[in-house]
Amino acid sequence: MANDPLLQPFQLKHLTLKNRLMMTSHEPAYPEEGMPKALYREYHVERARAGLGLTMTAGSAAVAKDSPPVFNNILAYKDEVVPWMRELTDACHEHGTAVMIQLTHLGRRTRWDKGDWLPAVSASHRREASHRAFPKQVEEWDIERLIRDYADAAERMHAAGLDGIELQAYGHLMDQFWSPLTNTLEAPYGGDLENRLRFTFDVLRAIRQRVGETFIVGVRYTGDEMLPGGLTAGDGMAISRRLKESGLVDFLNVIRGHIDTDAGLTDVIPIQGMPSAPHLDFAGEIRRQVDFPTFHGAKIQDVATARHAIASGKVDMIGMTRAHMADPHIVRKIMEGREEEIRPCVGANYCLDRIYQGGAAYCIHNAATGRETTMPHTIPTAAKKRRVVIVGAGPAGLEAARVAGERGHEVVVLEAASDAGGQVRLTAQSKRRREMMGIVDWRLARCEALGVEIRYNVWAEVEEVLAEKPDVVIVATGGYPMEDQPEVGHDLVVNTWDILSGHVAPGSRVLLFDDAGDHAALQAAEVIAATGAELEIMTPDRSFSAEIMAMNLVPYMRALQRPNVTFTPTYRLKSVQRGEGELLARITSDYAVQDQLDLDQERRIDQVVVNYGITPMADVYFDLKPHSSNGGEVNYDDLIAGQPQAVVRNPDGSFQLFRIGDAVESRNTHAAIYDALRLVKDI
Ligand SMILES: Cc1cc2nc3c(=O)[nH]c(=O)nc-3n(C[C@H](O)[C@H](O)[C@H](O)COP(=O)(O)O)c2cc1C
Ligand code: SF4
Repeated sequence: MANDPLLQPFQLKHLTLKNRLMMTSHEPAYPEEGMPKALYREYHVERARAGLGLTMTAGSAAVAKDSPPVFNNILAYKDEVVPWMRELTDACHEHGTAVMIQLTHLGRRTRWDKGDWLPAVSASHRREASHRAFPKQVEEWDIERLIRDYADAAERMHAAGLDGIELQAYGHLMDQFWSPLTNTLEAPYGGDLENRLRFTFDVLRAIRQRVGETFIVGVRYTGDEMLPGGLTAGDGMAISRRLKESGLVDFLNVIRGHIDTDAGLTDVIPIQGMPSAPHLDFAGEIRRQVDFPTFHGAKIQDVATARHAIASGKVDMIGMTRAHMADPHIVRKIMEGREEEIRPCVGANYCLDRIYQGGAAYCIHNAATGRETTMPHTIPTAAKKRRVVIVGAGPAGLEAARVAGERGHEVVVLEAASDAGGQVRLTAQSKRRREMMGIVDWRLARCEALGVEIRYNVWAEVEEVLAEKPDVVIVATGGYPMEDQPEVGHDLVVNTWDILSGHVAPGSRVLLFDDAGDHAALQAAEVIAATGAELEIMTPDRSFSAEIMAMNLVPYMRALQRPNVTFTPTYRLKSVQRGEGELLARITSDYAVQDQLDLDQERRIDQVVVNYGITPMADVYFDLKPHSSNGGEVNYDDLIAGQPQAVVRNPDGSFQLFRIGDAVESRNTHAAIYDALRLVKDI
């Protein structure tokens, strides 16, 4: 371990970073009233305690009021941020972790109808596709004010005791000045590259005047927009050199690409199914040619790739950001030779997609991330050992088994199928989503290490469960696709699971009716479209795939935007009948008023695939209820407060009974895993 390249210190000017691993800046949308309070602090401290070298806090902390918090950003333009950042920094410093913050003005990457309802500003009026504001073009008084705002925010972070800052320049105001695509200003801030960089160097000079030499200042910037007419790799190299030669900057943090569209953002921050470390060589080339401290991160999910990035000298600090959301203890596990215990980031991007929908960033399979003040990353041993029987080895059942195992209980899992994973295994049938199996495989490995017994091919009924003489029974049997839709003709349709599992081959003229808006529909659509079938994807919703968020939609659209596929929102499948060697589907719309009968349409196809959510499959739970002490009841107040369950409805009952995951109602993988962690950590 002592020679591990990742664990070697890095000298950044006066600052010694104790190892080469960092979390690059990311706003998980945890601030409260724009301030990084207890949850924010604990999130970073958990990773600091485990040995992280550098944490770049925030992500897009706003330097000005007209950069409103479009994803619940830290408001670095307020003086009250100083004590909050000081508390966070001091707490991380106690563990030897350096703390910096990313400061930015979002420019056009925001909306005017947030925060103080001030106009969005940019170096042109050009709209950004993702956020949709038509910005005001900056005037000279804006530029003067913004330079001051950056310097004020930097001074606040200096006062809070941080080790440094980085300025964001990819898709935000700073590089909106840089790019010919988004700068239509006249000189001195528009025109040639020199002029387009002027704002940045004005800002950097103003910052240096406030914070002096012994405060680290870096820039996270795009070195190649990869857009016709945008900044080229040659421009990127020139910018990198100018940043170094200015003497105003201490490190470069290299990005490649553009983020003004969901598709562009997804190429910058790749998700599952996309190549690992796609921009590492590019960052390495800048490092090689410019010869200056260089940071980088983009889908480096595993320690081996991170180690290669450092050992090969491509970069000086390597980001493993989502990897640390999935497992906060990566560095400790490396140091203790327990790398194989690292909970893998499976690239599901539930974390990042949620912030663009106004939610907090949660990890699809680590429900303690973002809940550090209430959910433990390290499960304490229970005071009393109990016998816990879990029915079902899908994500909920496996998480319950893992957590019960960590508690020190005696755990038996009864699974009807011949292998574990439930719906996650079905999802992983698609090559592009195979990484999802990490959710299952990691839990199986942990269960094995903890002595959990998993019995396959066991259809658990009351007798099988009672024979185990359990103290606690957890039913995590999941569900199956709802099969009673449409009301007329549901016996003539197949469902998305039939297609995904390969039990039913796609037809040649297919109507896929999606009333759930989740992954199952588009994943099945991908399978069908790949055969060349004529495919119509229909949904009654106002837009398709309502539950699939921005970046997860990108690979689906790349697979489905082809001539044989059409999307039809706002229409509903009413009935299906058999026709002459084909099926007749009747279509209606929730928007139709009664006398608009002409909205009733027909489709002639040879297959109807329905996606209508999950029906819980929980017979064993209902059969067990009379034998249990709590009748399956959960005290929600205690559950939320993190107290053990103490409901007694039947004093003669010999065990507590609980039901989690889709066995309760149709939800998602994260909800199933959170159900399990929240309940079982107090058993
Ligand atoms: C929830 C979340 C929020 C993010 N917000 C920012 C941000 O505000 N600024 C930024 O430069 N990068 C942001 N990022 C991108 C990360 O810094 C990083 O570049 C990206 O996650 C790819 O690295 P990884 O594969 O190691 O996660 C965010 C990432 C996540 C997961
Ligand atoms: S949600 Fe997915 S991408 Fe995000 S940290 Fe968790 S496993 Fe990684």
